[in-house]
Amino acid sequence: MNIKVGKLIYSGKAKDVYETDHSDKVVVKFRDDITAGDGEKKDSLQLKGYYNSIISSKLFEVLEAEGIKTQFIELIKSGEMLSNKLEMIPLEVITRNVAAGSLLRKFPFEDKQVFEPPIIQMDYKNDAFHDPMLNDDISIALNLATKEELDSIREITLKINKTLKEFLANKGINLVDFKIEFGYDKNQNIVLGDEVSPDTCRYWDIETCDVLDKDLFRKGECGVMDAYKKVASMILDP
Ligand SMILES: Nc1ncnc2c1ncn2[C@@H]1O[C@H](COP(=O)(O)OP(=O)(O)OP(=O)(O)O)[C@@H](O)[C@H]1O
Ligand SMILES: [Mg+2]
Repeated sequence: MNIKVGKLIYSGKAKDVYETDHSDKVVVKFRDDITAGDGEKKDSLQLKGYYNSIISSKLFEVLEAEGIKTQFIELIKSGEMLSNKLEMIPLEVITRNVAAGSLLRKFPFEDKQVFEPPIIQMDYKNDAFHDPMLNDDISIALNLATKEELDSIREITLKINKTLKEFLANKGINLVDFKIEFGYDKNQNIVLGDEVSPDTCRYWDIETCDVLDKDLFRKGECGVMDAYKKVASMILDP
């Protein structure tokens, strides 16, 4: 698609969003910056943006093939994803298949406890309030979404989980948990936006149990980029 990239409209912790000469499309540029702990721990890892963009693109394609609407149009160059422009809903929709991370600090679950059915948790995406967990009543009172929209987000998220879990399991990856964001497209459809990458998911190697995601960075371990690279080669392998 012939597209002209325009001005920067938003710069987040790991991605930049640019307007284009098509008012309903943006370019999401995946940067090499990596952060953890509410943005307190920061670094830059060469090629991280590139790997996150190809992993996210592949997973968006897998979801589209199952009829799930995503922002993805195409990768226009390294790390730059042409996407449908969305009016983002400030909810972090988290799906948990296995107990890990912050859930274990908040609730008395056992480490690695398996959740069947999965747990869906929603956090309010608001840095000033440190992304607190909320429920439907709070979301509705904050005018973030209606009850019907929340039900629809939940239903789409369960379908996303089922699709990704099966796809990744076939590639040798256990999808432990992941965080996604939705927005409204120009026709007011609820569409999956943002990214689905090792920055926003927990991936464990099914055979070796190795961690293949941002937890390595959170814990100050080495080999972060090797893990991201491994995820890319595992999922892109035909
Ligand atoms: N298709 C889209 N159209 C418009 N905005 C989008 C789209 N996809 C994602 N966004 C927004 O672009 C921004 C991407 O920024 P980024 O993920 O780097 O940082 P952040 O979300 O501000 O911080 P963090 O995710 O680290 O908490 C987010 O605000 C996200 O909601
Ligand atoms: Mg983000």
